[in-house]
Amino acid sequence: MDNKGRFFDHLVIGSGAAGLSTALRLAEKGTVAVVTKREIDNTNTNYAQGGVACVIDNKDSYNEHLKDTLYAGANMCDEAVARKIIMAGPSCINELISMGTHFTTKGEMGESKNKKDYHLGMEGGHKKRRILHSGDITGNEIQKTLIDACKKNSNIQIFENHAAIDLITSWRLGWMGDNFCLGAYVLDIKSEEVKTFLTLTTTLATGGAGKVYLFTSNPDVACGGGIAMGYRANAQIANMEFFQFHPTILYSPARKNFLISEAVRGEGGILKIKNNKGNLVEFMHKYHEMQSLAPRDIVARAIDNELKRTGQECVFIDIRGKGEAFFKLRFPGIYKECLSAGIDINKDPIPVVPAAHYCCGGVKTDINGYTGLNGLYAVGETACNGFHGANRLASNSLLEALVVPSFLAQDVEEKLGSIRENRPTGHVPDWKTGSATNSDELVVIHHNWDEIRRFMWDYVGICRTNKRLERAKSRIRNIRKEIEKYYWDFFITLDLIELRDMSTAAEIIIDSALQRKESRGLHFNADYPKTEKELELVNTIISRSHAI
Ligand code: SIN
Repeated sequence: MDNKGRFFDHLVIGSGAAGLSTALRLAEKGTVAVVTKREIDNTNTNYAQGGVACVIDNKDSYNEHLKDTLYAGANMCDEAVARKIIMAGPSCINELISMGTHFTTKGEMGESKNKKDYHLGMEGGHKKRRILHSGDITGNEIQKTLIDACKKNSNIQIFENHAAIDLITSWRLGWMGDNFCLGAYVLDIKSEEVKTFLTLTTTLATGGAGKVYLFTSNPDVACGGGIAMGYRANAQIANMEFFQFHPTILYSPARKNFLISEAVRGEGGILKIKNNKGNLVEFMHKYHEMQSLAPRDIVARAIDNELKRTGQECVFIDIRGKGEAFFKLRFPGIYKECLSAGIDINKDPIPVVPAAHYCCGGVKTDINGYTGLNGLYAVGETACNGFHGANRLASNSLLEALVVPSFLAQDVEEKLGSIRENRPTGHVPDWKTGSATNSDELVVIHHNWDEIRRFMWDYVGICRTNKRLERAKSRIRNIRKEIEKYYWDFFITLDLIELRDMSTAAEIIIDSALQRKESRGLHFNADYPKTEKELELVNTIISRSHAI
């Protein structure tokens, strides 16, 4: 190609656990560029508290983990995919440990003298203790290990403050033949230059899209970028109606998005609500036999229902009386954060509300992360490979993020010969950016951003109806038209890129929710309250030809 672009064998977009694991695997055989919108550790992974679900206890088994995964997934998981991921867990975890990740041991918790005995956490939907954790900052511990390894690897080049705008595909360029992904246009936020990355494979690993909702546990980066880029490149997007709401986010004016890990309930925390005398009483027995540890979709809906029924602003987790020493060891982050909000969890019940947490849908892939578009892969929360079905089992996501890249690297190795041979060649033009600036541009962007997040929360949240979804659809349609107009006319910025991606992701969620004419797992529509047997395992697919 006669280009002044940057050439690498592989491009990875995103720097969470899935992205960096992919980079490390691919770097064994070629050069890799990792582009990430902000700093390398500004990712969903970094905030993950719970841990990694993995069968390492000899009283546990792959079949039991599989059974819990399939039950939580409400008959929408791909069983073969789930089995393969679960079975590959222990060897990936051992690799991670050998790279330096530390998981909390029973010794540290004062439960055993055997240093190698890991302390296993319990979370909603699991019938066994099987969550490896580093206190309650597991994601941060894993992220640090992966960053260190990537920085030491001479085949990996990391581009921070680089925001991918769009994938470059042969169809986008108007070339004939099969569609190939050739790389991506990427905005260097500091120099304001749009760079052309040309590669043999591109992997979308941008995490989820929690920021489309007003209340979310996700950091600001989670705008659905990978899903939106995949969609614009004609990849299929699957099951986006299954958006997981975490039941317990700290309800505090001080900090809106701090997660109170499900592991707190795993260690004995009980969900309670105030009765009309102002006393705290349990309520989960009315909803599920597993009570406070029922699968997440059930708990989030139960809380939503209780809050609407009573008009209260929050429910509570009661884990009082375990002792300061226990909390400092097991939940150091939560203990500290709550204290700074004026809540001593050893003495006070923790006020909590549900918030958007995890996108179970995404760019449709096979077990290897392959999207079906030549050269394009997706991993982690960006992807939908069938593992999570209609409701992800707690702490299965870090497992997936660590395991699937190993399958991906093998698939790339098998396909690379054919990609090299068949990939079309020609001139790839530079990104054409508008040069106009407008003083009210930022106001418009922020207004649209706020509006999307508000109506997504009100109309496309935990409980949906046809009318609410239709309202959301008509609003997003207008906003999307406005954004496209601005997008092409104005100088490109990170704000604009994120708004455009977020609006695309929001529209795909709405379209997917409108398509599913039943309630299942995380998708509840009061106009179709029943689960329909014939819709079991039927994926909702949105592709470019479908939406506006
Ligand atoms: C949590 O710690 O509750 C979150 C874990 C997860 O989302 O898997």
